Formats: sequence, structure tokens, C-alpha cells
Amino acid sequence: MRRYRVAVIGGDGIGPEVLDEALKVVRAAGVELDTVDYDLGARHYVETGEVLPEGLIDELRGFDAILLGAIGPAIGSTEVPSGILERGLLLPLRFELDLYINHRPFNGVPGAIAPDCDFIVIRENTEGPYVGEGGQLRRNTPFEVATQGSVNTRHGVERCVRYAFDLARSRDRKHLTLVHKTNVLTFSGDLWQRTFEAVAAEYPDVETAYNHVDAACIYFATDANRYDVVVTDNLFGDILTDLAGAIAGGIGFAASANLNPARTGPSLFEPVHGAAHDIAGQQRANPLAAIRSAAMMLDHLGESATAKKITDAVLAVGVEMATSGKTMTTTAMGDAVAERL
Ligand code: IPM
Ligand code: MN
Repeated sequence: MRRYRVAVIGGDGIGPEVLDEALKVVRAAGVELDTVDYDLGARHYVETGEVLPEGLIDELRGFDAILLGAIGPAIGSTEVPSGILERGLLLPLRFELDLYINHRPFNGVPGAIAPDCDFIVIRENTEGPYVGEGGQLRRNTPFEVATQGSVNTRHGVERCVRYAFDLARSRDRKHLTLVHKTNVLTFSGDLWQRTFEAVAAEYPDVETAYNHVDAACIYFATDANRYDVVVTDNLFGDILTDLAGAIAGGIGFAASANLNPARTGPSLFEPVHGAAHDIAGQQRANPLAAIRSAAMMLDHLGESATAKKITDAVLAVGVEMATSGKTMTTTAMGDAVAERL
């Protein structure tokens, strides 16, 4: 087993405490990590006015991976204008490190809306409405105009769709659903659909389906077991994965990997939940999403057997917790995962 250099961005609220548990579990699994902490996020911005330090992204290129806890101010706080940290920090990390896949797995726990679900959403992570194309004119007048474009490139869509087909091929069910809104977004939808169909021809062993995004919301809530792998654009993927988290047992279980599968730089791993300032520092945060995200990091680094062990332990602790209905402290949950290794 190699030693890995990991950049750790704990961030705000519960971010640092859930990452502590993730690092504890990875080390308990016998993986050696050299970590460097980066102080970034809402608190750092309020204290220093800095969002993205000069040279940060180039510095991060020197790491094997990046672990991120959560970035964001408390709900209702007005110290950080909406979008500052998203457009100024999180999205530049995704775009400049070319983290073009957002890989989000969902496994239900007892008592959830979809207790037996087992599917993965692959979200395109560098294009769509997230690119920030558009602008405003005559702001704050009765004649103001706002446009917000969605950029979809053949290259960007194809590499995302290909990743999803490869993933579907590696799974037992070998089933892939494209989610879009081709009936209204006829330009981008057509590009996605044609690309999907062209790539599908190379994967005759993968069964495919298509859902409009509105219908997919119904199926997520009523029949999530129909899904194995789902591939979709950046914004639909953002919305659908919050819904997926909710039906699988709660966003506290939802892990994610922002991947650069071409490996031209480090990938970034983060729980889907946010900073949850209201429960920070009280041992009430669920660290399972962060621990599972760290397992995805190990998998990406080639430590697949260890990654699987951790993931299995996370799922087992999640099921145990949901079944017993007992509450556990943040550190006790990390310990419970570590003990199962
Ligand atoms: C997520 C988050 C981000 C997104 C925000 C914080 C920019 O909601 O990772 O899902 O919209 O992608
Ligand atoms: Mn989101």
C-alpha cells in the first residue's frame, strides 16, 4: 500500500468534524496519509475577505486527492452573499481541476422511502447552467433582463456518458437511464440523446432507458428500484441527488466523488450535505457520508479492497443505526465503522 498526500479542506460548520471521522477510519484501515489542512470557506472569507487564495489550485495539483467537508455560511446569515463561495471556490475547483464527473451512490436504509434502493447518479460536473454564461442588463429597473445559458459540448457530454456506460457495465444489473428534458430543452436534450445513443451502440451488454426529469422525480419517490445507474446534466443531477439522498434515508448518508477520470490532476471527495451550522460542534452530525466519500477516494487511488471494506462497514453501521432507532454521537459512529474493519 502506498502513502498518499491528501489536501484537507474541512470548511465550515460540521465539515471539520465529519472529516475527522473519515480520516480516522481511513487510517484505521491501514492506509497512510500525509495531510495538509487548508483553511477556506465562509468563516475564512468573513475573517479575511479571501475566497480562493492565489495559487491554491496549482498547489492542489500536487496532491493525490482532496477531501472537502462542507463550505457555506449559516442559513440566514448575511455576511456571505449568495454565490460568493459557490462561484468563487467550489466551482473553480471543479472546473479548473476538470472534475467532470460527479459520482453519487445511494443505498437505502431501513425506514427510508426507498429502503432497498441501490443506484448511482452520474452528474456531469463542468458544464450546463453551472458555467455562468449570461448576464444582466438594466438591473433594478422595470426593464431589467437576466439571461443564464446552459453550455453543453459534445466532448463534455460524451466523456460523461461514457463514464456512466463503463460504470453500468461493471455492475450486476448493467442498466443505465438517461435523464433530461428533451421535450422542452430541445437543443441540449438532442445533443445528450444523440450522444447517449451513439455511445450505447458500443455497449450492447448495457440495457438503457430514458426518463424526462419530472417523471424521474416521481419514480425516485415511488419506484427507485428501477434505477441502477442514472446519467444526467449538471443541474438536473444537483436536484435529483438531493431527492435521492432524501429517499435513501437522508442527506447525512449521501457521499460524492468529483472525479477527473483522465487523471490529469487530483479528484475531490465530499459529502453531499452542507455545513449544518445549527448542529456543529454538538456531536450530532452523521459522518457516514464523509467516511463513504473517503472510501471513494481510496477506490480512485487504487485501494479498491480497502475502499470496499470501508463502504461495507459504513452501510452496515447505517443499517444498524436506522434499525435500532438509537442515536449515536459523531465519534461513536466513526468508531463503529472503524471497529467493523
Ligand atoms: C452540490 C452543491 C453545489 C452544487 C453548490 C454548493 C454549488 O449543492 O454539490 O450538490 O450545486 O453543485
Ligand atoms: Mn446540491
